[in-house]
Amino acid sequence: MWHPLVRAPSDPSSLVAEVSDGIRFLVAMFHKSLLYITAFFASSGLYSLKPTTSSVYGVWAQSQPQYLLGLGIGDITGPVVETNMMGYASLAQTNTGLHMRQRSRAWIIADSSNPSDRVVFINADIAMGDTGIRRSIVDQLSSQYPGLYSNTNIALVSTHQHSGVGGYLENLLPQITSLGYVKETADAIVAGTVLAVQRAHDSLQPGNLRLGNTTILDANINRSPSAYLANPAEERAKYQWDQDKDLSLLRFEDSNGNARGFLSFFPVHGTSLYENNTLVSSDNKGMAAHIYEAMVEPDSMPGNVTFIAGFTQSNVGDTSPNTLGAFCESPGQAWDGLPCDFDHSTCGNRTEDCHGRGPGFRISDFESNRMIAQLQVDGAKSLMDTPQTLAPVSGPVSWVHTYMNMSFRSFSLPNGTTVQTCPPAMGYSFAGGTTDGPGAFDFIQGDNSSDPQNPFWEIVKGAVTPFPNAEQIACQYPKPILLNTGFAQIPYSWSPHTVDIQILQVGQLVMLIMPGEMTTMAGRRLRDAVRSTLISSGVIGEDAYVVVAGPANTYGHYIATREEYSVQRYEGASTIFGQWTLDSYIDKYTSLVQFLNPSFTAQPASDAAPQDQTKNAITLRTPVIVDNPPIGKKFGDVLADVQTSSSYHAGDTVVAQFVGANPRNNLRLERTFLTVDQLVNGNWKAVKSDSHPSTKYEWLRTNLILGFSTVNISWTIENGTPQGTYRITYIGDSKPLIGSISSFTGHSSNFTVSA
Ligand SMILES: *[C@@H]1O[C@H](CO)[C@@H](O)[C@H](O)[C@H]1NC(C)=O
Ligand SMILES: *[C@@H]1O[C@H](CO)[C@@H](O)[C@H](O)[C@H]1NC(C)=O
Ligand SMILES: *[C@@H]1O[C@H](CO)[C@@H](O)[C@H](O)[C@H]1NC(C)=O
Ligand SMILES: *[C@@H]1O[C@H](CO)[C@@H](O)[C@H](O)[C@H]1NC(C)=O
Ligand SMILES: *[C@@H]1O[C@H](CO)[C@@H](O)[C@H](O)[C@H]1NC(C)=O
Ligand SMILES: *[C@@H]1O[C@H](CO)[C@@H](O)[C@H](O)[C@H]1NC(C)=O
Ligand SMILES: *[C@@H]1O[C@H](CO)[C@@H](O)[C@H](O)[C@H]1NC(C)=O
Ligand SMILES: *[C@@H]1O[C@H](CO)[C@@H](O)[C@H](O)[C@H]1NC(C)=O
Ligand SMILES: *[C@@H]1O[C@H](CO)[C@@H](O)[C@H](O)[C@H]1NC(C)=O
Repeated sequence: MWHPLVRAPSDPSSLVAEVSDGIRFLVAMFHKSLLYITAFFASSGLYSLKPTTSSVYGVWAQSQPQYLLGLGIGDITGPVVETNMMGYASLAQTNTGLHMRQRSRAWIIADSSNPSDRVVFINADIAMGDTGIRRSIVDQLSSQYPGLYSNTNIALVSTHQHSGVGGYLENLLPQITSLGYVKETADAIVAGTVLAVQRAHDSLQPGNLRLGNTTILDANINRSPSAYLANPAEERAKYQWDQDKDLSLLRFEDSNGNARGFLSFFPVHGTSLYENNTLVSSDNKGMAAHIYEAMVEPDSMPGNVTFIAGFTQSNVGDTSPNTLGAFCESPGQAWDGLPCDFDHSTCGNRTEDCHGRGPGFRISDFESNRMIAQLQVDGAKSLMDTPQTLAPVSGPVSWVHTYMNMSFRSFSLPNGTTVQTCPPAMGYSFAGGTTDGPGAFDFIQGDNSSDPQNPFWEIVKGAVTPFPNAEQIACQYPKPILLNTGFAQIPYSWSPHTVDIQILQVGQLVMLIMPGEMTTMAGRRLRDAVRSTLISSGVIGEDAYVVVAGPANTYGHYIATREEYSVQRYEGASTIFGQWTLDSYIDKYTSLVQFLNPSFTAQPASDAAPQDQTKNAITLRTPVIVDNPPIGKKFGDVLADVQTSSSYHAGDTVVAQFVGANPRNNLRLERTFLTVDQLVNGNWKAVKSDSHPSTKYEWLRTNLILGFSTVNISWTIENGTPQGTYRITYIGDSKPLIGSISSFTGHSSNFTVSA
């Protein structure tokens, strides 16, 4: 989801004052046979998974592995403080620290008989793919590995998480709450992603792939059931659920059959952590990946792993991880605690009090996040542990990429009727948000106060998007247009007009890389249409297996079915190219299927690539000016120590507070802001980093003028933690007014953990 129309914090101090000034300034300025398993049961090793039944294995002959496989991971965490977070697009969601680092994970699959036929699948722990980020990643990889990696065979897929660092998107609309473009965020994503692909490239070795699926019942619900119900009854009758409950998995094996990692596809929004969380994290997909990787390599630090777990997003549009449903949080009102209104998700006619609840609601959103992650881990593990039940993947590695200009794209529906898509526009319900992150639609009514408010409204009031003309109104019908972003080009384009259309094929598996968030039914229609075309055109046989991955590459917001569009809930209102958006994608993806055929050498026609807008990007962020310790103190000094008088036990939280400095001074990519050290044979050994879910790093500016700040580091002791002596270490970097940034370290007192 993505909606920017949320109220600013009522606390007028902090950033808000600067923000409004900045925005006022902005306003003033203007806006991818046969395959055999080798004797994998005979092998052993760290990741070898013992077969539960071995009878099946005798059937397969040994053969040369069919593919070359590479897997890698990189740290992409941008500035963890003083930066808007991406997903909810709430101005108030400015980060204050770190829970878990964001990562990009990469999988390279090459045909061993023709190794230049290869595809790169990147699963980045970010809210959505982006044209600018992708352009930079493609530029670096294509110049480092000429002829191997290019614009056409690299897919940048996001986990669609909502607790990561913002400001990296190229178009103006999603930059609004981040006060424009944040180059540090974009640079961190590009550097970590390129590193993940380099590591994958360096790990290339012969192997095989297997494919299968399992059902996960309790990890998602439909958050717009009233829109889903608008789909034809006979179509809905084909499915048991109003959500896809299947997790599809591609198992990566070495030539001995040992698992090296996997890619999985399951649709569930990355909105387990709520909009009021301000610690940078990875939401349920990144958490699932961490849990799986730590299960395989328990002694490795997060991110320093060789087994790569891929929890990829799919037709996510109308899914929610808040599986208990949405309820009113309206203290003092008659409807407090009751389910929200079914059609409008309101409480007392307002959207703001309606909140989706995750399975761990009674404890915390962090617990809900862990639970939704664990359900995906359990599903993936059940498949990884039973490779004999998975289908061997065989066939060529192929891909196709093209650009599609969605503004007034005219095409024929299967029944011959010509229809067209429209330049982008947001409907009114876009402002209403969703039950995962309610908007503040009523905010526009009676807006007469001088309280700090979402500066977006300042733009809306001051410059607004151009009024839609009659052609756009008719084209977008029945969407009432709130933001006519397709016509807003000042100071640069507010929404993408041109999107990436990409298909990766690996044997019978076809991955549709989608530039947006497809709803459940939209995803089903596209998969079915493409699968039929793959079979009818003879590109793949009856075993053709199609999955959707996204939002990827370019963020084209939502893709709802035409029927859902007519209901104009959030997903319909955010289907920016009009009611024929999905049909246009179906038309294009099915037309590209023929290009997957290895004997087909022609290239598909393409619209022009979107223009690079980053050079025009407006940035309203202020740099770090200075850090100072208070008089009589040094950076890293302990301000509030751990408890030394008695021991800690599993379940306890150890906290230490230090004299801090701004973590924006050094992002410490591939490193850490903290360690929990254990005394082992007289030496300190780091056993936890800032990316373990059990640790939290929180930074607080205590005096802006003098440059004082504090850092709190906490560790919630896991069950099974060995008894012994421990300490907390803080690693920071300070910026003097004049001169260069330097690092420092601080330690808490020693403390003991006992059983
Ligand atoms: C799951 O796998 C089975 C067997 O290959 C297949 O028939 C089914 O279509 C798959 N489900 C999905 C959602 O792809
Ligand atoms: C965050 O929001 C959720 C949902 O509204 C609420 O239940 C929770 O108490 C809030 N947490 C904090 C720290 O305010
Ligand atoms: C990462 O793992 C390698 C090999 O297991 C080890 O040598 C190295 O010290 C680890 N690095 C960190 C930062 O933990
Ligand atoms: C909500 O709106 C409906 C229709 O306008 C009205 O009848 C109802 O009284 C309103 N409810 C509240 C709590 O304002
Ligand atoms: C997209 O197509 C429309 C309609 O043909 C055209 O007016 C517009 O210039 C195109 N946009 C780009 C960026 O090529
Ligand atoms: C073709 O299908 C569309 C979408 O269902 C419908 O609106 C249109 O009327 C149909 N055209 C004909 C000629 O049946
Ligand atoms: C804003 O509107 C409310 C209700 O309409 C009114 O009571 C209040 O006086 C107005 N405030 C200002 C500053 O005009
Ligand atoms: C940081 O730690 C101090 C001392 O234990 C405590 O008073 C304060 O509330 C903590 N701050 C946060 C944001 O947790
Ligand atoms: C903590 O333990 C280390 C290693 O035994 C020791 O050198 C150090 O003096 C201890 N620190 C304190 C404050 O007792």
